[in-house]
Amino acid sequence: MDIPNYFVVRESSQRVMNPIEPSQLATLGAALRLPSGTTVLDLACGKGELLCTWARDHGIVGTGVDIGTAFLAAARARAAELRVEDRVVFVHGDAGKHVADAPVDVVACIGATWIGGDTPGTIRLMEQSAGEKGLLLVGDVYWRADPPPEAVTALFGDLHGVDCLSLRGQVERFHELGYDVVEMITADERGWDRYVAASWMNMRQWLDANPGDPLAPEMRSDLTRSQLHHVRWQRPYLGWGIFALQRR
Ligand SMILES: C[S@@+](CC[C@H](N)C(=O)[O-])C[C@H]1O[C@@H](n2cnc3c(N)ncnc32)[C@H](O)[C@@H]1O
Repeated sequence: MDIPNYFVVRESSQRVMNPIEPSQLATLGAALRLPSGTTVLDLACGKGELLCTWARDHGIVGTGVDIGTAFLAAARARAAELRVEDRVVFVHGDAGKHVADAPVDVVACIGATWIGGDTPGTIRLMEQSAGEKGLLLVGDVYWRADPPPEAVTALFGDLHGVDCLSLRGQVERFHELGYDVVEMITADERGWDRYVAASWMNMRQWLDANPGDPLAPEMRSDLTRSQLHHVRWQRPYLGWGIFALQRR
C-alpha cells in the first residue's frame, strides 16, 4: 500500500499538504494551549509537519499514520532536523483502520476526511482513539460561496459534492455530532496559492527533468488543467479549515 508517484512529485516541495500556511499551523498549535507531554495521534499525517513542529514548540508526543512511504520518509527526516525524533513516531498503514492502543489527548485528521467513509464517519473513527476529554482536529473543505453546478462537478465529481457543506453547515454538523468548535483556522486565497501554485512549479521542474518518463503525458495535461481549475473553481469557491472539536 503506497501513494502513487504522481502525488509524490506534485507535493514534493510542500511540508504542509493543505492550503493552511505553516504560520497558521503554528498559530493553531499555540491557540490550543497544549501542555507539554500532550499525546497526539495524526491520522493521514503526510510529512508530519504538525507533529514535528508542535513537538518542538509545545513538547507534544505524537504518532503519525500514513500510507505514503515517501511522505513518511520526509516526516522522519523533518523529525531529525528539528531534533524531536524521541517525541514522534511515524507508522506506515491505513489510517482508516487505525485506533490508538491507549486513548490520546488529541486526534487529528487534516485533509483526509474520507478515511472513515465521510466526515461524520471519520469523526466516529477518531473518537475511538480519543480520551474522554480528547480534542479532535478535523481539516476539511467547505463552500466559501454558493457553487454553480459546474463547480461542484469540477471539484468533486457527481458523488462527493454532497459531503461539502457551507461553513455554517459544517459547524451545524459538528453540533449535531455532539461537539463544540473550540478553535478554528481557515485558509484564504493566499494559502490556496501557496499550496496549489507550488505544485505547478514541482510538476514543471519534474517534466523538464523527466520528459520521457511514462508519467510525463499525464503530468503535462494535469499541469495545464490544474492552473485553470484553480483560478476558475478552487480559489473562488472552496474553503478549507481546521476545526478543533470538543465533546459537549
Ligand atoms: C492532503 S494530504 C494531507 C497530509 C497532512 N495531514 C497535511 O495536512 O499535511 C492527504 C494525506 O492522506 C494520506 N492518506 C490517504 N489515504 C490514506 C489512508 N487510507 N491511510 C493513511 N493515509 C492516507 C496521503 O498519503 C496524504 O499524506
